[in-house]
Amino acid sequence: MQKISLDGKTILVTGGAGFIGSNLIKRLFRDAKDATIINIDNLNDYYDVALKDYRLEQLKVESGKWKVNYHFVKGDIADKGTIDRIFEEYKPQIVVNLAAQAGVRYSITNPDAYIMSNMMGFYNILEACRHNPVEHLVYASSSSVYGGNKKVPFSTDDRVDNPVSLYAATKKSNELFAHCYSKLYNIPTTGLRFFTVYGPAGRPDMAYFGFTNKLLKGETIQIFNYGNCRRDFTYVDDIVEGIVRVMQGAPERKNGEDGLPVPPYAVYNIGGGQPENLLDFVNILQEELVRAGVLPADFDFEAHKQLVPMQPGDVPTTYADATALERDFGFTPKITLREGLRKFAEWYATFYK
Ligand SMILES: NC(=O)c1ccc[n+]([C@@H]2O[C@H](COP(=O)([O-])OP(=O)(O)OC[C@H]3O[C@@H](n4cnc5c(N)ncnc54)[C@H](O)[C@@H]3O)[C@@H](O)[C@H]2O)c1
Repeated sequence: MQKISLDGKTILVTGGAGFIGSNLIKRLFRDAKDATIINIDNLNDYYDVALKDYRLEQLKVESGKWKVNYHFVKGDIADKGTIDRIFEEYKPQIVVNLAAQAGVRYSITNPDAYIMSNMMGFYNILEACRHNPVEHLVYASSSSVYGGNKKVPFSTDDRVDNPVSLYAATKKSNELFAHCYSKLYNIPTTGLRFFTVYGPAGRPDMAYFGFTNKLLKGETIQIFNYGNCRRDFTYVDDIVEGIVRVMQGAPERKNGEDGLPVPPYAVYNIGGGQPENLLDFVNILQEELVRAGVLPADFDFEAHKQLVPMQPGDVPTTYADATALERDFGFTPKITLREGLRKFAEWYATFYK
């Protein structure tokens, strides 16, 4: 593995007004000494833009505190001219591509957004990396690439040729594109398959956030497969820790026996590795919402939850085999569901006060 120092580097983070991206940039302000951080985000309205503005505002304040060189560009990664201009002007040495159209269900009604951001956008990033001296491209893939795989835990050695959503298909395609660019142009790339990331100022389209909104309004939440779903939930700080470590260790450029480059390519899972039952998850969420004062102390949770059958496309159990990340980067997610949901509930209480 090629060690890379973040100090003094120019780092491009795409999707930095997003949930994971904004947390990553905050961490880089602190850890990457004398670095220049570029953030590009198109601030699309897939979910409440106020949250993106809030995260950007926090980044502005934090960048002032740490006196870092930070530039925000409002722009679209699917626009080749914009990406080329950024690379020309800033010459990033490390690129973290997090900008994407996320969400499984939305891809059924809005396929265009996925093709533009996840395919065109990623292609533009790869092309820019090809024509510039980039030391490491790290990009977000997703646990959804495992589709309907039955074997758990999900391992990066498993076949993932059967995506069950367009979103998953674009993420798997990103891995294929990256492999091709690593092989042809010797660009070190690492894909990270994230497993259900949650935390303060997270995504409102995700279950824990949606459940909270509904419970607050006195509505009933539906728990699929009668709660018999098990998921790896990963707290955002753990994901950020994983990304920061991975950024500093690029797959090595070397030649194979045939004298040709072996693609400097890697893919890792980042997930808790300890699947949690959905019912336990919502019970803890409810307790923490009561504790944070979002829900009243006498909240009748039983009356607001409905156990329903499985939805088409959903999978009963997903969790990560994260041993490779532990082996190569000495890191396994640590934050418990209770701790993580407590932080989410406390943030929610202040943000929506
Ligand atoms: N949160 C999770 O549980 C999870 C799980 C698996 C994978 N991922 C992946 O991780 C990455 C970050 O996810 P997130 O949860 O922070 O999502 P997010 O939607 O909060 O962040 C993505 C950001 O990218 C921006 N964006 C989207 N398309 C863009 C484009 N074409 N040009 C510029 N900006 C664009 C959005 O405005 C948004 O701010 C995504 O690639 C997502 O697919 C997330």
